[in-house]
Amino acid sequence: MKHYILALDQGTTSSRAILFDRAGQICASAAQEFPQHFPQSGWVEHDPNEIWNSQLTVARKVLHEHGVSGAQIAAIGIANQRETTLVWDRKSGEPIAPAIVWQDRRTADLCQQLRAEGKAKLIADASGLELDAYFSATKLKWLLDHVPGARERARRGALAFGTIDSWLTYKLTGQHVTDVSNASRTMLFNIHLMRWDSDLLHLFDIPEELLPQVVSSSEEVGTTHAALFGAEIPVAGIAGDQQAATFGQACMTPGMVKNTYGTGCFMLMHLGRHPVASHNRLLTTVGWRVDGATDYLLEGSVFMGGATVQWLRDGLGIISQSSEVEALAASVPDSGGVYMVPAFVGLGAPHWDPYARGTLVGLSRGSNRGHIARAALEAIAYQSAELMAAMQKDVAAAHRQIPLTEVRADGGAACNNMLMQFQADLLGVPVIRPTVTETTALGAAYLAGLAVGYWETQEEIRAQWRCERRFEPAMPEQRRLELMGQWQRAVERSRGWEL
Ligand code: G3P
Repeated sequence: MKHYILALDQGTTSSRAILFDRAGQICASAAQEFPQHFPQSGWVEHDPNEIWNSQLTVARKVLHEHGVSGAQIAAIGIANQRETTLVWDRKSGEPIAPAIVWQDRRTADLCQQLRAEGKAKLIADASGLELDAYFSATKLKWLLDHVPGARERARRGALAFGTIDSWLTYKLTGQHVTDVSNASRTMLFNIHLMRWDSDLLHLFDIPEELLPQVVSSSEEVGTTHAALFGAEIPVAGIAGDQQAATFGQACMTPGMVKNTYGTGCFMLMHLGRHPVASHNRLLTTVGWRVDGATDYLLEGSVFMGGATVQWLRDGLGIISQSSEVEALAASVPDSGGVYMVPAFVGLGAPHWDPYARGTLVGLSRGSNRGHIARAALEAIAYQSAELMAAMQKDVAAAHRQIPLTEVRADGGAACNNMLMQFQADLLGVPVIRPTVTETTALGAAYLAGLAVGYWETQEEIRAQWRCERRFEPAMPEQRRLELMGQWQRAVERSRGWEL
């Protein structure tokens, strides 16, 4: 009797493994952080073997601690940090260099150069993405340009490129694949034709021999080597973590939006079966491909979300644990006119300014720690409100009748009630928190479970979603406009700071 689905959630700072039952409830979970490497300013690297070892450790641990054997797992689903790029040798299975993480800015100048050459439109039209160092293409080009002999070995077919989903699937099953949602974040994939784009491969000088086979988000791609878990378990679901979270939040009809308050904030809106090209600097991305049908999403990515609270703790030292921020922020009635723009690593959507830097404005003699904590929390909500405004404009410009009635929230900072209420106030629509906030892992579990018949239909999944708390907007429109106007002024002051 197969009792569970095992979800692997390989994130930027930790690897997690969660066992789900047929009701979509968490039975057991394990997590482990792994090292971050910062060899130079603006560089962020991961050791692919540290990722694999941490992921395998937590997967085994969750089975062991819950007394579950590999034979009781119906399928494995993978959700992963996206865009992070690595290349390994097909014969030895060893990476040729550290993985270049999505946050890594080493290719920002190359992106500037391509922009100056007028390539941004070609890239956006095919891939749906902004020309930015965030995505895999320039990172992969960098590896081929800088690791001696790499491009020549790649042309010979001796090397394999992958994002983290490919790496984990390769280590688990020996297959070299990626799913459509992860492929759509490489800046090498044509989201209309749903295949690798020859013009983009040519632009970045990427040999085709390197590329993984593109598969659906919900299909059996192989079985695990028996030695890993004592049984051959099908790997049957793969999706980038934000797309997986959107699926886990059951945002499966046009206009449904989820926002994940993690390290960054990732707001994704379901578009249906046809992509909408953004005119407001959002990303059009593949959500998932299930049963031969592709669902598209519109995404706004903000680089500093919950990480802003970490900075209050680690950088400023005004709290000793992240959970203290709510009480400190509540010690004042409002931010007292203080605004924090957390552009510590530049600004993502909708500004895309790698040269912006963190800014604190509006300080007066009466300003204190409480105001700064409140401004930090509010900044998370302001950034998300900008994403929502851009989404509304894109949808209106596309003349699509997509009703936008609520936002489903998840991620670590979604437990902060003050933030959730302020978010609802700024958005003017309810913000809803589900009972299961591990939506990334849940989405991966659902995708895997659908492929093996553990769940039959997407309707069955939709029916499992439960609201834990609903935050209704309560702020007068005039006040909301005033605050957003002040926020825009603060953002302007942070822009173009770094020379
Ligand atoms: O695009 C980057 C995103 O996938 C990272 O998510 O949860 O690992 O910070 P997370």
